[in-house]
Amino acid sequence: MTRTARAYTNIALIKYWGKKDQQLKLPYTNSLSLTLDRFYTDTKATIIDSDQDVVYLNNKLLDASQNKRILNYLTTVRKFYSFNDHFQIDSVNHVPTSAGFASSASGFSALAAAISETKQLNLSRRELSILARNGSGSASRSIYGGFVEWQAGHDNESSFAVPIDETPEIDLSLLSVVINKHSKKISSTVGMENSVKTSPFYPNWVTLVTSEIKEIKQAIAQKDLQKIGEISEHNAMSMHALTLSADPSFTYFAPETIRIIQLIQELRQKGIFAYATIDAGPNVKIICTKESLALVQEYIEQQLSDVTCVVANIGPGIQYV
Ligand code: DP6
Repeated sequence: MTRTARAYTNIALIKYWGKKDQQLKLPYTNSLSLTLDRFYTDTKATIIDSDQDVVYLNNKLLDASQNKRILNYLTTVRKFYSFNDHFQIDSVNHVPTSAGFASSASGFSALAAAISETKQLNLSRRELSILARNGSGSASRSIYGGFVEWQAGHDNESSFAVPIDETPEIDLSLLSVVINKHSKKISSTVGMENSVKTSPFYPNWVTLVTSEIKEIKQAIAQKDLQKIGEISEHNAMSMHALTLSADPSFTYFAPETIRIIQLIQELRQKGIFAYATIDAGPNVKIICTKESLALVQEYIEQQLSDVTCVVANIGPGIQYV
């Protein structure tokens, strides 16, 4: 019987923001993430006697306009591995939009693993990471647990994620502060493309990421929490500077995003451990220690009435259930 693949979402501490190859999703820089334990996607692929794929997401059949990206991906996978089968894909997202995480990382990672399982491709985790990357760049990292680095590479075979420490014994938790339940207006794909093409600071970003990757890997090895927090926050702010400096300028920040950044600075002034990271949307993820977590959550909820806080810890790599 075919097993269901389960992939957890991840949060980038050093962001992937820009592709040198759109089709293959080859990034300009390495990136580094932490896989999370609370949000995951379960996906099963069944071969069907049809010349078209069908996709169910959360038990609902997707129509042509909704599943274009997935259908294109399945076509790519067929080409890669030279087979003609079509699939029924059953995917259930345990990444509530209300938790403020994108589901494309866990989604394409689970889909790659589900197809590999059904077709008995016997892929290594490296090959799975490559396959997942072709669906969504950040999905390449969700193959592994804990701290993961996606090595940019220069072609399809050389761009994959590697584990840095899959079960780190480190006192880090993540508090996701959700301030806006509307879906984002500019996708990461489009946002990063605009930044690459028009931000005068893009070349500096490439240089910055190269040095920040080195520094954060050192900090992870030394379990230097403060360094990890500082580098992560600086990297996230630098990524958002690329959107503000694009032409035309755009931002993922909502007014509340700025407010939360200020609250985090206040918390640090009080000696409480808290650092911000923000993806392609308005929600803020706060890097906390087990000790600071409750204090940070209380402070944020006191100051802002219309936010939802969700806690996540370090999670595992791909699983079969
Ligand atoms: C800000 O992986 O969603 O979350 O490869 O175009 O699907 P595509 O982009 P995606 O971008 C993620 C951007 C980010 C940073 C990160 O996760 O590294």
